[in-house]
Amino acid sequence: MPKLNPHQIKEDFPILQQKINGNRLAYLDNSATTLKPIQVIEAISDYNKKSHGNPHRGAHKLSVLATEEYDLARKKVKEFINAKHSEEIIFTKNTTESLNLIAYSYGMNFINEGDEIVLAISEHHSNILPWQRVAKEKKANLKYMYLNANSRISEKEIKEKITTRTKIISIAQMSNVLGTIHPIEQIIEYGHKMGAIIIVDGAQSVPHMPVDVQDLDVDFFGFSAHKMLGPMGIGILYGKKELLENMPPYLTGGDMIEYVYEQEATFAPIPYKFEAGTQNVEGAVGLRAAIEYLENIGLNNIQKHEEILVEYALDKMLKLPYIDIQGPIDLYMRGGIISFTLEDIHPHDIASILDTYGIAIRAGHHCAQPLMNYLKIPATSRISFYLYNNTEDIDQFIEGIKKVRKWFGYGS
Ligand code: ALA
Repeated sequence: MPKLNPHQIKEDFPILQQKINGNRLAYLDNSATTLKPIQVIEAISDYNKKSHGNPHRGAHKLSVLATEEYDLARKKVKEFINAKHSEEIIFTKNTTESLNLIAYSYGMNFINEGDEIVLAISEHHSNILPWQRVAKEKKANLKYMYLNANSRISEKEIKEKITTRTKIISIAQMSNVLGTIHPIEQIIEYGHKMGAIIIVDGAQSVPHMPVDVQDLDVDFFGFSAHKMLGPMGIGILYGKKELLENMPPYLTGGDMIEYVYEQEATFAPIPYKFEAGTQNVEGAVGLRAAIEYLENIGLNNIQKHEEILVEYALDKMLKLPYIDIQGPIDLYMRGGIISFTLEDIHPHDIASILDTYGIAIRAGHHCAQPLMNYLKIPATSRISFYLYNNTEDIDQFIEGIKKVRKWFGYGS
């Protein structure tokens, strides 16, 4: 059994100590954003009290301290995902910016007419819209891998969609709607055989399972701090050194240059070439503290803990005949995200009523409208777990669902 004790962990999260609408808070919206432990809050506060300055810009003590903090955070991220070099870690604003950076810097420069870009139909809009633009601009073909009845991408689908014309494959490791963990190892291996570059959106996976980018042999990998106990406004793009070095800058401005002439400029080496303007150092400090917190508990333990929660929740939900699970109903290759529909009750009504009982969930299309169209539903309700959740949160949610039905006049 895992060493993780969610009751004890909850004590580290001040926000979980408060009542919401007079009720104990069951926070089940971790795919949207996660809460911060006191260790992260204090690390950010300490930085602001003692070390805040603009990195790389001054000889004075505070600028030097801020530079050190920023570098330490980069090193921590490098170790966390086992990148080969620190300069392969680029700080961005969020996963969306990481994906846009690749699309505009790599896609616009290395994709040509007739090339193929392959995505999964379950992608978040942030991994669709940048590629729609690249495809339109470069006259490339945008193709989708579709899901089978159990929300999975089959081997047949992978081999049918990825061809020798495929130049880019961009896919989330874990679907933010269905919780499906896609077979990215297989996709990376086959994609490389076909000559493609593979980009993985790790926003929903990195916080919940161990990830080793060298082991995966992935070309680019993006994720966000705020989905792993860190602050908003800081994201990460990992890219293989040789790819990043050959790409032009995405944003231009301060601190990313080597020399600027009147009519042209030369650029700093990676990672600085991709980090224009003043950076989010307090975000990086918070991210480092978040990674330290997660490492203390262990990503394997977190993953096992969430598997237990998913099993418990699915078992309870599948016993309620009026709930329709959208996504895998078995435990194979799935994470702690469960989407569902509930008779003819609109997901927004479900989320609003649950909120009155202190239960926080997300409802809507989850920034995945092509997936909703594919599933032929307008929206879902979604619960998503993290290390501080326990079975009490799930019981509170199940009781909440029964109350929602009562609001709409359904019997038990
Ligand atoms: N991408 C986040 C979610 O799925 C915001 O809720």
